[in-house]
Amino acid sequence: MTRPTTDSVWRIGILFSSTGTTSVIEKSQRNGVLLAIDEINAAGGVNGRVIEPVSYDPGSVPKEYGRLAERLIAEDQVSVIIGCYMSSARKQVLPVIERRNALFFYPTLYEGFEYSPNVIYGGATPNQNSVPLALYLMENYGKNFYFVGSDYIYPRESNRVMRNIVRQGGGAVVGERYLPIDAGADDIQVVLDEIAAKQPDVIFSTVVGEGTVKLYRAYHAAGNDARRVPIASLTTNEAEILEIGPEAAAGHITAAPYFRTIRSVENDRFLASYTRLFGSSSAVTSCCEAAYFQTHMFALALGRTNSLDTGQLRETLLGATFEAPQGVVKIDPDNNHTYLQSRIAKVNDVGEFIVERELIRPIKPDPYLVNPDLNDRNFKLMVTATSDYPQAPASPLAGRRPG
Ligand code: ACM
Repeated sequence: MTRPTTDSVWRIGILFSSTGTTSVIEKSQRNGVLLAIDEINAAGGVNGRVIEPVSYDPGSVPKEYGRLAERLIAEDQVSVIIGCYMSSARKQVLPVIERRNALFFYPTLYEGFEYSPNVIYGGATPNQNSVPLALYLMENYGKNFYFVGSDYIYPRESNRVMRNIVRQGGGAVVGERYLPIDAGADDIQVVLDEIAAKQPDVIFSTVVGEGTVKLYRAYHAAGNDARRVPIASLTTNEAEILEIGPEAAAGHITAAPYFRTIRSVENDRFLASYTRLFGSSSAVTSCCEAAYFQTHMFALALGRTNSLDTGQLRETLLGATFEAPQGVVKIDPDNNHTYLQSRIAKVNDVGEFIVERELIRPIKPDPYLVNPDLNDRNFKLMVTATSDYPQAPASPLAGRRPG
């Protein structure tokens, strides 16, 4: 092992909020990056140099992410940044990193319909989460959907894609409503009244951050039974469930590549390492896991380039694979997005996600999902999850590290 030096370091910028509405999940993403950096530095750094994070709190305000990205590049001399949860924040960062030719890692599910040569996308796109989720819901709950979302680009675009999927499956959207990012009790009451009037079979929520916590609690307080009519979501993860509490969260459903309850050697190791650094792993989310594996993939690529040059790093990262806590992931050289696992889980009585369905092989990202294929043979392979360690079918991606 090479002894790391601190006089010459690799600097990486971090833009996750520890205040404001989406800090509930962004804190877990920041921790994912810090954990990976801690592990990398403890193992000798990258080619003998430690990674040094430079981190700012954008306060969950989209414009602040753009302003701070500029500051990281112009003042802190950083050319690699990881950050953002809301797509509205990423859209502010995008022109900055493109103009400056920096490299940006985005470890969050999103609506798709974007490509930048300066971005490596580590979260799920609709073909990796919305399609299997819609199929599962139509099979198990019914075909009448009600959509509720926060009022910005991700919920509106994601719901447009979901509407298309539901229609193709013979279902209908019986209502659709958008809440302000800082939704209050009155805003949520309007949604609850509409749900009571429309009697959907399932609610698809693209509400984010603190709004999620308020929505689920109010839904429960109004006497709704999640086991009969659940709220299904891509943005209600372990961190939000912790705040909602098990009573109001039980029975609701989320689709994601990763849940902290999955059993695998790699996940056990990840959670133990996280607990060692942060005291508890109960708020670990799929977005945290994505931040963690993206940071490791960056460091492995840096080990090969020995340079922070954006072009060299991108060329090394495209096609790279990594044994992540969720299973094997791979950066798709066609579009800079990531092959990811696909899972659907339900919250149990003690507030833990229990995986109901999973596809134990990575799905190719299709960020431009114009015509979803509900007969995609991948989804025919979704299996009922077992409590045992998953027995992954032999995969051509398995076991390889970036390179
Ligand atoms: C999101 O806004 N991409 C969750």
